[in-house]
Amino acid sequence: MNDVREAVASAFEVRPLTSEDRPWVQKVLLQYWASTKQVAKGRVFQADELPGFAAWRGDEPVGVITYDIRDNECQIITHNALAGHGGIGSCLLAEVRTLARERGCSRIWLITTNDNVQAMRFYQRRGFEFVAVHRNAIAESRRLKSEIPDTGMDGVPIRHEIEMEQTL
Ligand SMILES: CC(C)(COP(=O)(O)OP(=O)(O)OC[C@H]1O[C@@H](n2cnc3c(N)ncnc32)[C@H](O)[C@@H]1OP(=O)(O)O)[C@@H](O)C(=O)NCCC(=O)NCCS
Repeated sequence: MNDVREAVASAFEVRPLTSEDRPWVQKVLLQYWASTKQVAKGRVFQADELPGFAAWRGDEPVGVITYDIRDNECQIITHNALAGHGGIGSCLLAEVRTLARERGCSRIWLITTNDNVQAMRFYQRRGFEFVAVHRNAIAESRRLKSEIPDTGMDGVPIRHEIEMEQTL
């Protein structure tokens, strides 16, 4: 890490989400995911009710990650950095990974969509591998969450779910 990124990274702290965070978490989810609901592999999550971690710079939230642990697996449901690309996303991911290990999870995994090349880069750089392409899974997701747009990043049609994991 160079000096600038180190300075930015040191300027925030990460804490578990509490019920008091819910109003701003809901705003973030609406802004970035068009709903507080998330869908992955046909399962609907009320993301604002999930456990997670937030990154804070002073009194201002600058990132949030939510997860769901079941069957000894930890699934990341949402993950957003709200202030640039200065290490916030990496710190939030590291926090969930540590917790998943402590809870004895066999893997940490997530679904992203085929348009989100930046996320695929980010997670691969941090030890995740591709597990599966769930072809045309977004059609079913749209049935469960009508807010999913037709096109996503760089104007790419959103059609497929990409499953990524890191074994622990
Ligand atoms: C994925 C995400 C949470 C990562 O958070 P972040 O704070 O940007 O992460 P970091 O700063 O730790 O690392 C980002 C990396 O991308 C690079 N980067 C630079 N510009 C970037 C940009 N415009 N967009 C994304 N990444 C960028 C950073 O330099 C860093 O590179 P590295 O892998 O060589 O270290 C964040 O990009 C985000 O909120 N994305 C939108 C929501 C999303 O797609 N979530 C994941 C699917 S659930």
